[in-house]
Amino acid sequence: MTPPLRVGLIGLGNVALAHLEGYRGLDQIQVVAGADPRADRAAMMGARYGFAPFSDYRTMLAEARLDLVAVLSTVVTHREAVEAAAERGLHVLCEKPIAISLDDADRMIDACRRHGVKFLYGSSYRFLPPVAKARELIRAGTIGEVRLLTETFIGGHGPAGYHDMGTHHYPAGGPGGSGNGLVDHGIHLVDIFPWLIGSEITAVSGRGQRSGATPMAEYMAMEFRSGALGHLVYDDATWSTDLPSEGLFSWGPTWDQMAAGEAGDRGGQWQQHPGSIRVYGSEGALRIFHYANLLFLRTKAGITQVPVSGRPMPGQFGAEMASLAASIREDRPVDIPAEAGRRALEAVLGAYRSMETGERVRLEPGSPS
Ligand SMILES: NC(=O)c1ccc[n+]([C@@H]2O[C@H](COP(=O)([O-])OP(=O)(O)OC[C@H]3O[C@@H](n4cnc5c(N)ncnc54)[C@H](O)[C@@H]3O)[C@@H](O)[C@H]2O)c1
Repeated sequence: MTPPLRVGLIGLGNVALAHLEGYRGLDQIQVVAGADPRADRAAMMGARYGFAPFSDYRTMLAEARLDLVAVLSTVVTHREAVEAAAERGLHVLCEKPIAISLDDADRMIDACRRHGVKFLYGSSYRFLPPVAKARELIRAGTIGEVRLLTETFIGGHGPAGYHDMGTHHYPAGGPGGSGNGLVDHGIHLVDIFPWLIGSEITAVSGRGQRSGATPMAEYMAMEFRSGALGHLVYDDATWSTDLPSEGLFSWGPTWDQMAAGEAGDRGGQWQQHPGSIRVYGSEGALRIFHYANLLFLRTKAGITQVPVSGRPMPGQFGAEMASLAASIREDRPVDIPAEAGRRALEAVLGAYRSMETGERVRLEPGSPS
């Protein structure tokens, strides 16, 4: 039997936990080492998941006999970590956003190309079962021609409860804000929208949060070559108007049934992750509850719940890692090229630029995804 690929993790914060949980059951890889400058955290994670802890990733790269690394560290450190791994001939999975600047992204892509290593962009949403199924339906023409894709995330506990990702992720004054904002979260959607509909973004406009600044509402509009429009709206420094059970609002019992005690155990419970993505077409629409692992299709025939297969959150991180491992074993191109991460960053930074110029920003043709 082929021995598992030896994986090292760079960065052992929040998302590393989700990755490690998602990797459970994968026999093609083994996490043998992990590095984080917070030595206590590295030791705790190493003991819990059975890998060698390091406080400096360069020492780990030199000593741990790795095949590949997953770069899960603060955003500002992605470039140096990817370059260091590539220089040692190690394949790379890098979390989103790929980097904080296009120059950094170019340097990372160039380093991996020069050293002949694979570079998978960690667009984990592509591996969420209802998102993947939605793409299948869209590509099969189930909702006709896609006209609009949207995601809105509003809600927190006012400005006092707002949690900035911090200047250790995003340097002060540059793109930043919260983990539910445009550059850190919206970039997921900026990657999957063109991938879902098979049409590239041609122009963007918007308004984005700066790292360390007073929070404000953010938005981004994307125009696609097909004529479709993408729209994102984020503000988690205000209060949500979501109602209990709204995550299943279109599916659960009616308010009357609930009030009359006729709902039984049919739906109606609060979903832990009620966030959703909406896709509207000329012949139908899709509602994707990406973390609740639900997918609904509406056509003139009515509303149906579409079965999805695959592991829900945090399974997407396992699927992502399995995808990189397979491309290494089979020596074929990765499923999500680093250029897709660069393209998504280019689009988001374009929205920031439009805020300064007051004009829409056109993107050069050439989507890689
Ligand atoms: N795909 C997803 O759904 C998803 C979800 C959350 C976060 N993320 C991304 O994952 C990355 C990490 O986010 P997080 O939420 O885990 O942040 P975090 O702040 O919880 O953890 C980041 C970790 O990186 C460590 N670090 C800093 N400098 C380092 C260095 N030089 N070498 C090694 N480690 C270093 C920090 O000590 C910290 O433990 C970000 O790019 C973020 O956007 C992705």
